[in-house]
Amino acid sequence: MIAIIGGSGLTKLATLSITRREVLRTPYGEPSGALTFGSLLGHDIVFLARHGYGHTIPPHEINYRANMWALKEAGIKRVIAVASVGGIRDYFGPGTLVVPDQIIDYTYRRRHTYFEGPEAPVTHIDFTWPYAESVRAMLLDGAKKAGETVHDGGAYGCTQGPRLETSAEIARLERDGCDLVGMTGMPEAALARELGLEYACLSVVVNHSAGKGDSAKAIAVEHLGEVMKQAMVRVQHILERAVAP
Ligand code: HPA
Repeated sequence: MIAIIGGSGLTKLATLSITRREVLRTPYGEPSGALTFGSLLGHDIVFLARHGYGHTIPPHEINYRANMWALKEAGIKRVIAVASVGGIRDYFGPGTLVVPDQIIDYTYRRRHTYFEGPEAPVTHIDFTWPYAESVRAMLLDGAKKAGETVHDGGAYGCTQGPRLETSAEIARLERDGCDLVGMTGMPEAALARELGLEYACLSVVVNHSAGKGDSAKAIAVEHLGEVMKQAMVRVQHILERAVAP
């Protein structure tokens, strides 16, 4: 089965017909909320709101390990993660949808692995290509079927948050090769890989990042909600097509 993790602006799927909710406890603590089981235009899925259903958990306080563990426990094989991001490239303006193919991780002090503690074996996962091509292809095909333009590829830089970046930090991320910046892509993607879950991300650009485009002087945070709201309608259409076999 497929799971959809909703980020900011996507705490529920409007067209999901819900069958049940299940609260799962894990050895790593509590997930962001109950898993919502249901059917999206006839296809069974599980939905989880990354920031909680009331959007109360900030990026650095999300229990990523519990979330991914709970999905694995529920029998999930594939995960579509939706995440709001800032655009670093000029052409990634608000409203652009991107399926990234790379990650650079700038986060710190997050519980980022299952392989720790005296009992755990020393384990190194391959993470050369952090996203599963199978799930990336589902998203790209879903977008095509929904008639939505989605950019294929790009590097997602994950910052610690919750504050937004300085313009110098964004300039540094750009020099590093980042195309997008968000706060939740890691360790989520790496934990999925550790658990053997196929995982990819649909990134929704909601603002030019700090110092770029119309964010040259400041990021108009009061406008982000409206951009998200508009973009998430398109995202839902893509998700509906993406989960259809
Ligand atoms: N930076 C980091 N995370 C974000 C941004 C941003 O500009 N916009 C949305 N999420």
